Amino acid sequence: MKTEQASPLRGRRVLVAVSGSIAAVKTPLLVSALIKAGAEVRCLVTTSGAALVSPVALASLSRHRCYLEADQWNPAASRPLHIELAEWAELTIVAPLSASSLARWSQGSADGLLASVLLATEAPVIAAPAMNTAMWRHPAVQSNWLQIQSFPGVVPLLPASGLLACDRVGDGRMADPLLIELAAASVFSRGLGTLDVPLDWSGMSVLISAGPTQESIDPVRFLSNRSSGRMGVLLAQAARFRGATVHLVHGPLGIPDAWLEGLQCTAVESAAELGTALQLAQPRSDVLVMAAAVADLRRDVAPPGKLTKLELQQALTSGWTEVPDLLSNLIRQRHPGLLVLGFSALTGSDAHLLELAESKRLAKGCDLLMVNPVDRDGQGFGDQPNGGWLLGDGWRRELPVTAKLSLAHQLLDALLKARDQAAASMES
Ligand SMILES: Cc1cc2nc3c(=O)[nH]c(=O)nc-3n(C[C@H](O)[C@H](O)[C@H](O)COP(=O)(O)O)c2cc1C
Repeated sequence: MKTEQASPLRGRRVLVAVSGSIAAVKTPLLVSALIKAGAEVRCLVTTSGAALVSPVALASLSRHRCYLEADQWNPAASRPLHIELAEWAELTIVAPLSASSLARWSQGSADGLLASVLLATEAPVIAAPAMNTAMWRHPAVQSNWLQIQSFPGVVPLLPASGLLACDRVGDGRMADPLLIELAAASVFSRGLGTLDVPLDWSGMSVLISAGPTQESIDPVRFLSNRSSGRMGVLLAQAARFRGATVHLVHGPLGIPDAWLEGLQCTAVESAAELGTALQLAQPRSDVLVMAAAVADLRRDVAPPGKLTKLELQQALTSGWTEVPDLLSNLIRQRHPGLLVLGFSALTGSDAHLLELAESKRLAKGCDLLMVNPVDRDGQGFGDQPNGGWLLGDGWRRELPVTAKLSLAHQLLDALLKARDQAAASMES
């Protein structure tokens, strides 16, 4: 049975700021998604932004009046509007962030309502720039982009590549509204009381596998499992929002396409393809997270034509070979310093599952193993929450059932701790 989960955005105060980029036409979708997730939303548009997207639409979708630059100079206001908004917001999202607004922010200019809010806020800010590729690549813009990433609480969302409004194909598209919504949910899922969002995975290269594999029975049918890939993809995005560079090797996924933006992705089908892709990428990685649900068996020979019902019956009972243990193989070939988190989806009683998991962790040799029961109501596959136990060398910690994004952050915290402990033990 599926359980309805409360979004981490429920009841949160989010300020959406829109500056003068044509991507502003997509911001109403973001506002709508935030409202559906239960957030309280206020919108602010710069003068150029208001020429590109209707403040009336933003007001209607956010269920509140939309603030314009001129409102800052309202003589009836008893407190400066930029201070009121900056103190009200638990999170500010600048989507789109124009080159001009980025320049003002990076230089510490308070010229205008948006610029003043960005200096006055002490809460996190998600920055989603959008502009023409040549503008984006300009050294001045790149230097301003680097500069704002050194400001506390900034979550940078790199623009994506694609067809731009200027007809050019290249970098500069604003991150998809669904990805921005995910970044916002991620801010509130980190479990930090102060809403401090350090880029504590900066400089780390993470390799993550996610989703099921499919083993062909014939050109039409395959053997697979119920994995949606959601846990692995959320781990990938959570690590990226914290500054990591992430390579995701994935089977067929059941998640919004937008959630793949910003990741280096390799799509595979079979366990053999997954193994090869991981082996190639592993030497360049600092951390390997094996969240993919790899099929246990594969056909010795897949026939070129569709099997009849009778042939299918026979094919299901013979001609299958065990898929090699990909995680054990990868760990055997690992370079010193590679940290490995494995996943194990198990069924049965707590005692049975923990005993099995500990022997699996030892046999495979992974640093951390997340054990999640998949036979219990309201947790496990797809958009359901997840929980279980995290096993390390000589210890285990229960991870209560929670939203997968929140669990992803807990696992990333545990990986950082394991990395620091390993470094400390090398020194002593
Ligand atoms: C139709 C149109 C589209 C524009 N698109 C962008 C854009 O995608 N990114 C950008 O940085 N500037 C873009 N500009 C230029 C900005 O609107 C301009 O620099 C403005 O001063 C930005 O001010 P603001 O940051 O206060 O909104 C565009 C201008 C026009 C007229």
